[in-house]
Amino acid sequence: MQRGLLGIEGMERADIELVLETAFHMKEVGQRDVKKVPTLRGRSIINLFFEPSTRTRTSFEIAGKRLSADVINFSSSASSLSKSESILDTAKTLDAMDPDAVVVRHQVAGVPKRIADELAAPVINAGDGAHEHPTQALLDLMTVVEEKGRVDGLCVAIIGDIAHSRVARSNIHGFLTMGAEVRVAGPPTMIPARVEALGVKAARSLREALDGADVVMALRIQGERLSGAAFPSIREYAATFGLDRAKLRFAQDDAIVMHPGPVNRGVELSHDLADRRPSVILDQVRNGVALRMAVLYLQAGRRARAQEPR
Ligand code: CP
Repeated sequence: MQRGLLGIEGMERADIELVLETAFHMKEVGQRDVKKVPTLRGRSIINLFFEPSTRTRTSFEIAGKRLSADVINFSSSASSLSKSESILDTAKTLDAMDPDAVVVRHQVAGVPKRIADELAAPVINAGDGAHEHPTQALLDLMTVVEEKGRVDGLCVAIIGDIAHSRVARSNIHGFLTMGAEVRVAGPPTMIPARVEALGVKAARSLREALDGADVVMALRIQGERLSGAAFPSIREYAATFGLDRAKLRFAQDDAIVMHPGPVNRGVELSHDLADRRPSVILDQVRNGVALRMAVLYLQAGRRARAQEPR
């Protein structure tokens, strides 16, 4: 497996399978009375989040702690960034304290890669702009494997704001690499111009996207990345692309519904669907801890093993 995790694009199928297999072992740790193993004792992990997060940041912190690593949560508002220190100088300063992995979220695409190019520690991308969110895609794959027993041969429909979503990009690469068929649907302003070049089918309607789908993934409208109105009104969006039980009847009878969160209730998903099966939203969150334990183990643990005296 490569050093660091910046994206799913270009990631080998064998590497994805290694992460998933490791994550299922880690999930077992989380089901014990004492949810802690000494695997990363004496190692340190810095969470460097420049953009708000609930799920990703908290689960990386819990994941590191379950592996007995020392986890440092960097607060950008309380740092010397407020004294005009640059992001790169900030990252190099933290790297000089010899962490074993640095987890980076930033609102601008490419920042984790720019930081990774300068740091000795492996960098894990926790979401950069509309580019990639690799650990989200991996935890989504884990959840599908748990639910369906496989990814190969499944039909996955991704609905909503594809153009501004890093989750969509990472999931498209992940599902295709693992052998699924991927369809996308959403308002025309939210579908990238050459999306089919990624290997997905651009459906002309929600119904066409859902037809026979095994997995239905609704995406959040990325208001923070929209410069103007991308559709006439929220009410129209909800009527056309919002998922509810009536629309879901076009998918397979045993289809599951996923959402990376946070959910705009009543917009992307009906309240009822957000809270109950076949939605697996909280299973995705649960698997996020195990998956991030696996990634930290494979990245910070690998660095640790490489540094051990022979
Ligand atoms: N899915 C996701 O990235 O959520 P957060 O922004 O809460 O981390």
